[in-house]
Amino acid sequence: MASRSGAAPQTGVTRALAVRSDVPMDRPDGSAPFPIPTRAHLSDGVVVLRAPRPSDEAAIVAAANDPDVARFTMVPVPYGVSDAHEFVGRAAENWATGQFIFAIADAATDELLGMCGLHDRETGGLAGGAAEIGYWLAPAARGAGVMTRALTLVCQWAFDAMPLERISWWALVGNTSSRAVAERVGFQFEGTVRRGKLQRGQRVDAWIAGLLREDLTS
Ligand SMILES: CC(C)(COP(=O)(O)OP(=O)(O)OC[C@H]1O[C@@H](n2cnc3c(N)ncnc32)[C@H](O)[C@@H]1OP(=O)(O)O)[C@@H](O)C(=O)NCCC(=O)NCCS
Repeated sequence: MASRSGAAPQTGVTRALAVRSDVPMDRPDGSAPFPIPTRAHLSDGVVVLRAPRPSDEAAIVAAANDPDVARFTMVPVPYGVSDAHEFVGRAAENWATGQFIFAIADAATDELLGMCGLHDRETGGLAGGAAEIGYWLAPAARGAGVMTRALTLVCQWAFDAMPLERISWWALVGNTSSRAVAERVGFQFEGTVRRGKLQRGQRVDAWIAGLLREDLTS
């Protein structure tokens, strides 16, 4: 990504048309059918959040092999071309099951900057009013507020599109960059969950934070 001063004000935010699907989804855990929102396209004029595309695959491979992405997320290690191909190919199917993956791209160039996913993993799941957020940025896109913008857009969309009461953020203890992003968006730090996450076969201590609609800072 070209260098960003990052100082552009967050004005002119255009929310996506987050129209609910008429077709309720039967949920694998047997809970009440939940209307999955239609695929959204989000932008604040600086970043765009859209579906991942085959043309993103090379950039995904490069970013996913970044040591911090490998360390702090659950992407396969090493991450190959076939992993990216499968990931992009599954995007539509995943959306239909409540795994809402957004490619983050530069609004001017459409260059891939990162990924942000809202997942149906929390206790009770989407039907129970809770989701979990995850994200990464390519190293060259960091330090300019891109993820703060993207996370804001995704969380605003999620609260508008679904009857969510909470979005959870989990990170390995020590992931201060991720925590700073989450807190800028409004997530409230809730503590350390001892051995709270399974990371590459090992139980590790994890931080947890939560966002309610009223916590959103913009
Ligand atoms: C976590 C991660 C996405 C954070 O990236 P980031 O670049 O720090 O986050 P942002 O894009 O929001 O940028 C924030 C930085 O830009 C600066 N910035 C500049 N303009 C800004 C603006 N308009 N708004 C917000 N921040 C701005 C901030 O001061 C901050 O810099 P600092 O850390 O030096 O204080 C990135 O480190 C990453 O991908 N890590 C590896 C994967 C990972 O850990 N994922 C999360 C798992 S829980």
